[in-house]
Amino acid sequence: MVAPMEIRTVAPAVQPAVEQVVSAAFGEAPDGRVVQMMRALEAGGAARASLVAVIDEQIVGHVGLSRGWVDARRELVEVLVLSPLSVRPDRQGRGVGTALVAAALETAGDHGAPAVFLEGSPDYYGRRGFSSASALGFERPSTRIPDPGFQVALLASYQRWMVGRLIYPEAFWTTDTVGLRDPELERVEAQIASN
Ligand SMILES: CC(C)(COP(=O)(O)OP(=O)(O)OC[C@H]1O[C@@H](n2cnc3c(N)ncnc32)[C@H](O)[C@@H]1OP(=O)(O)O)[C@@H](O)C(=O)NCCC(=O)NCCS
Repeated sequence: MVAPMEIRTVAPAVQPAVEQVVSAAFGEAPDGRVVQMMRALEAGGAARASLVAVIDEQIVGHVGLSRGWVDARRELVEVLVLSPLSVRPDRQGRGVGTALVAAALETAGDHGAPAVFLEGSPDYYGRRGFSSASALGFERPSTRIPDPGFQVALLASYQRWMVGRLIYPEAFWTTDTVGLRDPELERVEAQIASN
């Protein structure tokens, strides 16, 4: 019998088990850049929610939500940024990531957030509630985020005036985890241009 999966909300405090899953998913060393980013988000007070997927009492996936802003003309709007999303390599391709994204959107709605932004594959996230943020009038925090990868899910409290540039929390900058850099950026841009 396949063990059922449970999604649990955990304190945003970064736990070793969560860090292990994140490092393994991103193929990084235990204290790699993505883990450093999570710690900086927590230390800087930007972390808002941390959800884990659990199978047989083992953490097999994780998703984090942090506070950002949309710099709208009327006022600064608090929004959420979904990052990182991690599934243990031996558990990928079985719906864990999909369940975590759905749970993150539900949690964001419970927090009253009007929108959730992320950087990622439009193929993956486009089928999981997200669409092009630029097409809806938002501006990227960096032009190093390839435009198709800049995505948003609008939630119940969203209002039409809430458009503008997305402002990231400082932790993404201090850990240099915004967008892509050359030569990866060049490679992805060439791939987009050839599609
Ligand atoms: C991306 C990731 C979170 C997906 O989690 P998952 O549990 O394997 O995903 P699911 O089983 O819910 O969905 C599988 C689907 O995603 C697709 N997929 C997996 N990784 C993908 C990627 N990097 N880009 C696009 N699609 C991807 C699969 O082809 C499959 O397609 P389907 O929708 O036709 O079924 C996981 O592969 C992972 O942890 N990757 C490494 C870390 C990472 O890149 N995180 C995302 C950064 S934006």
